[in-house]
Amino acid sequence: MTFSRILGTGSYLPARVMTNADLESVVDTTDAWIRERTGIEKRHLVSEGETCCDLAEAASRRALEAAGLQPSDIDLIVVATTTPDQFFPSTACLLQQRLDIHGCPAFDLQAVCTGFVYAMDVADKYIRCGAAKRALIVGAETFSRLLDWSDRTTCVLFGDGAGAVVLGAADEPGIISSHIHADGAYKDLLQVPGGHGNGRPDEAYVEMRGNEVFRFAVTTLGRIVDETLEANGLSRSDIDWLIPHQANIRIIQAMARKVDLPMERVVVTVQDHGNTSSASIPLAFDVAIRDGRIKRGETLLMEAFGGGFTWGSVLIKY
Ligand code: COA
Repeated sequence: MTFSRILGTGSYLPARVMTNADLESVVDTTDAWIRERTGIEKRHLVSEGETCCDLAEAASRRALEAAGLQPSDIDLIVVATTTPDQFFPSTACLLQQRLDIHGCPAFDLQAVCTGFVYAMDVADKYIRCGAAKRALIVGAETFSRLLDWSDRTTCVLFGDGAGAVVLGAADEPGIISSHIHADGAYKDLLQVPGGHGNGRPDEAYVEMRGNEVFRFAVTTLGRIVDETLEANGLSRSDIDWLIPHQANIRIIQAMARKVDLPMERVVVTVQDHGNTSSASIPLAFDVAIRDGRIKRGETLLMEAFGGGFTWGSVLIKY
């Protein structure tokens, strides 16, 4: 049997930093409110002219270097993003051109904050069935461009960045299992209502009913943890690291309790990155690999929740 294994990771954050104190002069908010309700202290934002593909390229080159591979070794590119540079070509095709890769399939995948988990699920299946041997999976976002910077209930929450993983075919996992779900019945709770497709391009800003999203996220993520453990006959004590989507420290703490892990065993970057949507898990993953916390052979649980709603998990033997 063929499985997919993590060969390398990389990430990239734009240089510009916006602290909570900086936000106090943008909207009616305070550093104390943002820290207490979300755990966020600062976030990175793209500068004028900097694109989602720029972030994806930098993260991808670092992941390829960590994997000891050349771009020409890649035979599948999946970019999870909610903020593509253009309607088309896809950001994956733009990235493919930057990396001077030709011919392999390249496509974007849109599942908002669950995008990276969805992309891992898809790429793992390509590799398991033999359709790809070395896949580049990227989560990249310029979410700051989707924000209404006069809406204090949303603009304080998000940031920009990219993370990437190179997956390779292997005889043993790797990705043990992945689980993805969606329910469009909740579309109104977290959305960008406008778009060119519906003739409302002027309403292309994030709207959220934060309280309701919070409650649904905690319940749903709790269920996906149970589903993942049950599918593999594992118990909570088998998990070495939780790598959650970085939306809010209070949701992350609730998930740590659910998995019965101390916070030292949870990778937390929300204080430095804010919510970078599909980039948040690969960014956090790369940070914890590069600082030496996550080691080969350990069991990792990734979980995410996002607009749609979408939600999912990936269980990995690193
Ligand atoms: N600064 C100061 N006050 C703010 C504020 C801000 N940035 N944003 C909202 N407030 C105010 C509200 O207006 C409200 O005031 P009121 O009581 O006078 O009406 C008060 O703070 C409490 O608002 P509420 O929405 O109940 O706060 P909360 O504790 O639910 O926290 C979130 C708000 C958004 C941080 C929280 O609901 C959350 O994290 N939800 C999940 C969001 C998420 O993860 N989304 C992405 C999923 S991928």
